[in-house]
Amino acid sequence: MEHIRLSEAGDSVVILDQSLLPLEEKYIELTTLEEMEGAIKKLQVRGAPAIGIFAGYALAALSKQQCRPKAISSCCGASGTSDEGFVQILQAQGEVLKAARPTAVNLSWAVDRVLHAVRVEMFRARKEDPMRPNANAGARRLAEAAAREAAAIHEEDKAMCKAIAEHGLTEIQKVSAEGGHSGPIGILTHCNAGPLATSEYGTALGPILLGEEQGVDFHVFADETRPLLQGARLTTYELQKAGVDVTLICDNMASSVMQKGLIQAVFVGCDRVAANGDTANKIGTSGLAVLAKHYGIPFYVLGPSSSIDLNCPTGADIPIEERDPEEIRSKFYEKPMAPEGVSCFNPSFDVTDAALITGIITEKGICRYPYTESLGALTEASK
Ligand code: MRU
Repeated sequence: MEHIRLSEAGDSVVILDQSLLPLEEKYIELTTLEEMEGAIKKLQVRGAPAIGIFAGYALAALSKQQCRPKAISSCCGASGTSDEGFVQILQAQGEVLKAARPTAVNLSWAVDRVLHAVRVEMFRARKEDPMRPNANAGARRLAEAAAREAAAIHEEDKAMCKAIAEHGLTEIQKVSAEGGHSGPIGILTHCNAGPLATSEYGTALGPILLGEEQGVDFHVFADETRPLLQGARLTTYELQKAGVDVTLICDNMASSVMQKGLIQAVFVGCDRVAANGDTANKIGTSGLAVLAKHYGIPFYVLGPSSSIDLNCPTGADIPIEERDPEEIRSKFYEKPMAPEGVSCFNPSFDVTDAALITGIITEKGICRYPYTESLGALTEASK
């Protein structure tokens, strides 16, 4: 079953609550803007592409709600019953969703895509009725446009993940053959960049899941990923389900497994790739890249082109989310593990220097250093 979907009625979004995994597989329905915003903030839905897909469906559901006879006539200061009013309300709702988490560019990318599709529909209606330059498309038609765009974002993500998986699998088989490696290919991964963070294959886990289907042997070392344990809770859960050999390690054991020769490559996802290739991903990623460089292990970032933000010149321009210190002090412990009130620094992401990245594997192919050129060429080619 899809872990993010529009409800049958189209006016709410149903998600698998990732904050409860792996202990409980529970689907929850989100209807109000506050519930949707809360689901992103509380990481009930998480992972850069997944929050984009979710935001698309959230706007589709909120659009459908505007079709009700007594439609919500205002939101966040915007109000109205015309097309313009509809779009203003949706835009204000989109701003609330965008602000829920700042780092992953996919979130604002998806919100902007749905809003653009709705506006295009609005202008189409006006063109169809040239005698009435202010002709309204009507709420139903605009809501349908929002739902179509949200579904398209989801479908495209599936195709992108599959293509990333194929490029990544070809690359790692080549690299490991060139290195004279035999036996299962050892991959270290951080956080969760699997199907739960995207759709279907995932990004960093894509080559592994595709390899498993094709009989290629992998052994994955999954960092637990403090403080929210996405690696321990989600990556191991997904890989176990898929029948892939997986060993869970604490984050501070990465150097040890690399030193023992157990790792042929590091695969991580990304929340935002700047124009120069600097990449924001889950906190701890940049440390792995430094270690990989030390041990001569290739370090790959895998992500869809929707994670590339050419408007961010370098990693210094990427906003980094800071989260509640309580996540470090006490979350997941029976009792707090630190003195009450101790100050904590809890950035959710860090930025890996482009020069440490062996390749950025996208659905369109693999970009190599210097990324200003290769990422630019990739985006130019797809225009
Ligand atoms: O805080 P999270 O769990 O949303 O962080 C997720 C990550 O850092 C992922 O690696 C990234 O979003 C890529 S998911 C394909």
